[in-house]
Amino acid sequence: MKTISVILAAGQGTRMKSDLPKVLHPVCGRPMIWHALQAVKDVTDGQPVVVIGHGAQQVRQAVGDAARFVTQAERLGTGHAVQQAESALRGQTDLVLVTSADMPLLTPETLRRLVETQESNTGPITMLTVLADDPRGFGRVVRGADGTVQAIVEEAQATPEQLAIRELNVGAYCFDAGWLWDALERVPLSPKGEYYLTDTVGLAVDEGMVVQALTLGDPAEAVGVNTRVHLSEAEAGMRRRVNRAHMLSGVTIVDPQSTYIEMGVTVGRDTVIWPGTVLQGGTQIGARCEIGPNTIIRDTTIGNGCTILASVLERALIENDVEMGPFVHLREGAHLMSGVHMGNFGEVKNSTLGPGVKMGHFSYIGDATIGAETNIGAGTITCNYDGEHKYPTEIGEGVFIGSDTMLVAPLKIGDRARTGAGAVVTKDVKPDTLVVGVPARAIRKLNRG
Ligand code: UD1
Ligand code: CA
Repeated sequence: MKTISVILAAGQGTRMKSDLPKVLHPVCGRPMIWHALQAVKDVTDGQPVVVIGHGAQQVRQAVGDAARFVTQAERLGTGHAVQQAESALRGQTDLVLVTSADMPLLTPETLRRLVETQESNTGPITMLTVLADDPRGFGRVVRGADGTVQAIVEEAQATPEQLAIRELNVGAYCFDAGWLWDALERVPLSPKGEYYLTDTVGLAVDEGMVVQALTLGDPAEAVGVNTRVHLSEAEAGMRRRVNRAHMLSGVTIVDPQSTYIEMGVTVGRDTVIWPGTVLQGGTQIGARCEIGPNTIIRDTTIGNGCTILASVLERALIENDVEMGPFVHLREGAHLMSGVHMGNFGEVKNSTLGPGVKMGHFSYIGDATIGAETNIGAGTITCNYDGEHKYPTEIGEGVFIGSDTMLVAPLKIGDRARTGAGAVVTKDVKPDTLVVGVPARAIRKLNRG
């Protein structure tokens, strides 16, 4: 049967106390609504319909063409919200899968079971329930003596007896489409002045039809985010799931509790990740690396066999067998070729370090290219900025830059040249030449046997 999903995202999210619409708050690096869309993607047939209202423009922009949008002008409740999708969907689908954008942990597997259960249901609704000790303000699932679902009662309207019920409405349903559109017109106004989607359950039962309930095996999937406390619970749940998937694919995570890996990050086999490591954005890490402890890597690609200790890497590219840290900072455009070694307190920005370059201690390299096997002495600085403009530095292969050298750009240093300790180099240096002093001058041609 054809199934299309409706994702509710119009609510204000007042309890988040935020300027950002609730559904755009990230969980493991992606907005909650991204997770909601991901969950329905392979379970439904057409483009999902997202009901927007509060922060509509921002939500629309974040989602892009992954969905169609309908607007709920007034927040008149979840039933009213679903009704806004009718004009887009009437006659277009057999089943409607309804979820909310604030339930980032629901899995495609669960939603598939929900749809399959409804496919063989003679009645018009299959709903998802969870058994939990903490009711969290969720609607209670009222069952009859024979165990069949009779109604969903919202907490505000529940009797003390109903409040004690521990089976809760998760807020994900699969409906027979034709029945749904008609039923929504019969939903009464609640005492709170809203039209509750949950009242459709009572309507179906009154008409003598069966409402099926599917109970979650893993209650963690039911996390609905209303506050930032819930947001941190969702984050923790998703983090466990992400880390587990990496471990099952061959990555050692020494302490998953303190390892933070965002959605979409890839890590190769036999890589070991130590505690306090944060891997973000489009980061890709190869096989057999040692990452961390205490390392932050954003939007960076790393080859195989690299060691990255206690460092911060942003938008960098690192080839194979590179070793660095502690306390390296790579910034945008840093490209470290195979076999580079960087020791402590090195910063590299918009520069290429050729194969086997060594940069052991306290250096800044910006807007530079450095040839293979060159040694950058302790305290070397590329003076790439004169207060107005940035200038490039080119250093050849096999060069030896002495300790505490200032390289005043623009500058070219030829292959196999050397600078003396404390040199301030303001003019280009020819290959095989030693320069010393302030400002540096050539004192001899180097004799290479
Ligand atoms: C709802 C259910 C409750 C369930 C709980 C699970 C109803 C009446 N109650 O309660 O049984 O246990 O979810 O989390 O449905 N929304 C709109 N437009 C509106 C109102 C809400 O789009 O006018 C959206 C919200 O953005 C949110 C979702 O619908 O994504 C749920 O709304 P919310 O107000 O959070 O409902 P709950 O009180 O949590
Ligand atoms: Ca909610």
